[in-house]
Amino acid sequence: MKLFRFALALSLACVLTTGCAKGPGDNAAGGPSGSGRLQIAGLGKSVHPFWDQVEMGMKAAAGKAGVDVEFYVPSKEDAQKQAEKIKSWVALGKNGILFAASDPETVGPAIKDAIARKITCVAMDTDAPDSGRAAYVGTDNYLAGKTAAEEMAKELGGKGKVCIATGSVTASNSLERIKGFKEVMAAKYPGITVLPEVLVDNEDRAVAIQKAKAKLAATPDLAAFFGVYALNGPSCAIATESAGRTGKVKIVCFDNLKEHMNMLKQKKLDVVIGQRPYLMGLKGVEVISAIIRDGKDEALKGMGARNGIIDTGVDIVRPQDVEKYRAELKKLGIPVEGW
Ligand code: BGC
Repeated sequence: MKLFRFALALSLACVLTTGCAKGPGDNAAGGPSGSGRLQIAGLGKSVHPFWDQVEMGMKAAAGKAGVDVEFYVPSKEDAQKQAEKIKSWVALGKNGILFAASDPETVGPAIKDAIARKITCVAMDTDAPDSGRAAYVGTDNYLAGKTAAEEMAKELGGKGKVCIATGSVTASNSLERIKGFKEVMAAKYPGITVLPEVLVDNEDRAVAIQKAKAKLAATPDLAAFFGVYALNGPSCAIATESAGRTGKVKIVCFDNLKEHMNMLKQKKLDVVIGQRPYLMGLKGVEVISAIIRDGKDEALKGMGARNGIIDTGVDIVRPQDVEKYRAELKKLGIPVEGW
């Protein structure tokens, strides 16, 4: 288990320093609310507790930085709705947009237009470098995919059939995780076969469960699922349990929400790769406020960004680590309710 590595300690130190922001500077016109405060909008990808944590982080930073925040998610993956929302925020005169593009091709033009109108745009959770965003705040998804593969190989003892399940085949975070995962398997674990069909649910839980059930029925010798998005691990666990194969089919998956952590305790999940969505929201608002106040270069330097990227890090958690993990997250101010 990699817990609270130096990266997190460092990032939290940053949070604490930048959290005491001086407030908007001269170059930062207050937004349209009449409050005189900066108006920052956050755009998530689907209705899911993962995004509730991002919103919580945004609100925590807003309180400290003296800015107003608003948050929106479509019910499931819908890049078109995301683009429309961005356009409406541009029309409303928001000062900053923190966004997670479900499809950079569809969302990118709206972001480019916002940037042309001097709105500070920062990507979170899933990067969209071609949009011209000022920075990215979130997981290094390619590396995290490789990490997931190493953990999977340990669980399988280097052999067996693995099925990948994801919520998106357009968002860059999903594509990068899958790429990292497959590359490690191909290069290092010849005994592991990654099935060519990737289960795609467009962040719709009912579809995710139904596809996992069908795959289990069609593959009696399936050894494991790799759950790429937060909704995949639990959906695969529900399907596996209903097939009476819990424990026989391993599940390595992303995220550390209440449902994951309870399933991990019950050994319905084997390994979770915990992202830090709360920090994505928190640092996202901080970096947008800092860019508007101090300019991009100074702001990114102050937040410890590398090549425009603020890496929020991941934790690897197994059932035996849960109690310790909760205590550590709590100590760091990251919400841990319900598990
Ligand atoms: C991903 C998000 C996704 C969420 C919910 C997370 O693992 O980083 O992009 O929206 O899962 O499925």
